[in-house]
Order: sequence, then structure tokens, then C-alpha cells
Amino acid sequence: MAQIRIRNTNERITGEQEVAQFLERQEVLYEHWNTVQLPKQLQEKFILSDEDKAQILASFDQQIRSLAGRRGYKTWDIIALSEATPNLPELLKKFEQVHTHTEDEVRAITAGEGIFIIKGSDDVGYFDVELSAGDVISVPEHKPHFFTLMASRQIVAVRLFIETEGWIAHPFDDPAFQKA
Ligand SMILES: [Fe+2]
Repeated sequence: MAQIRIRNTNERITGEQEVAQFLERQEVLYEHWNTVQLPKQLQEKFILSDEDKAQILASFDQQIRSLAGRRGYKTWDIIALSEATPNLPELLKKFEQVHTHTEDEVRAITAGEGIFIIKGSDDVGYFDVELSAGDVISVPEHKPHFFTLMASRQIVAVRLFIETEGWIAHPFDDPAFQKA
């Protein structure tokens, strides 16, 4: 279940209700999908064949189509990252820069864990959203953010798009941002 860490104060927010309320105030979509329908062997697998990816998408087909229907997403795919990913350090370096997109960035975590760092309202500042399997998040368009892995350095997620071109990253140079 997702947890929040507010970077300015180091305050942590836990508990489904509290996390959902905080994210709603920050205009970040959050929901949680039951992962029991995902076959056991895919809950801990991070190097995926095309068949594995198709099976993950099929397992969550109902949730994906419901979310896509509500929010207008037209295409979706699977991304997997782990120590086996070629150039993982370079990839992470690229991810770990504050940026924006012209469409929202949706991720449904199906295995592993990861963190979205998002620029919140002025009174909150940057906050971390720590995500694990079943967590679904959408960072709104034009909201500065970046993504990184957690210590386990492995994640599988469904990505949903309205237009894949909308997901191009625009760097956001923010003097207020401090790495922490
Ligand atoms: Fe992004």
C-alpha cells in the first residue's frame, strides 16, 4: 500500500484512507488494484517475455479497461526494470530529473516497488509517493515530478496513454528542488 513522505518535514503519511485523502488534495489520482488474480510466478518476476507481459495485461484487463474508460486512455503496455535491465544506472539518472508532461503519467504497479517524487501545493512542497504492487497513480499533466526505484531496484508496471507523444518529458528546472 502506498506511503507518503513529505520532504520538507520528513513527515510520513500511512494508511489507505490517509494516503488517498492526501493525494486527492494534491490532485493525484490514486487507487489500489487487487493483485491476487496475477499468477504467483508473475508476482516476483522482473525479466519478462512478451508472453509474460500479455499475461499480466490479461490478468488486469478489467481494471485497465475500467480506468481507461473513466479517463480516456487509449493504449497501454508493460514496463519492467531490474538489475538485469541494460544501462539501468544511466536510465535512472535520466529518470531522476524533475520534468513535466502534456498528459498525465499513469502507472499501475503489478510487482516490485518504486517512488514518484511530486511537487505538491506551496504549503507541502515536494513529496515522495512510495508505491508497491497493486498501487495505481496518475501524476497530472504539467505537474513537476520524477520517478526512481527503491532499494530493491525492481518494478513491473502497466503504463496507460492517451497519446504516446504526450508522454515526452519536458525538463523542469526548479531552484526550490533539493535532492533528499
Ligand atoms: Fe514523468
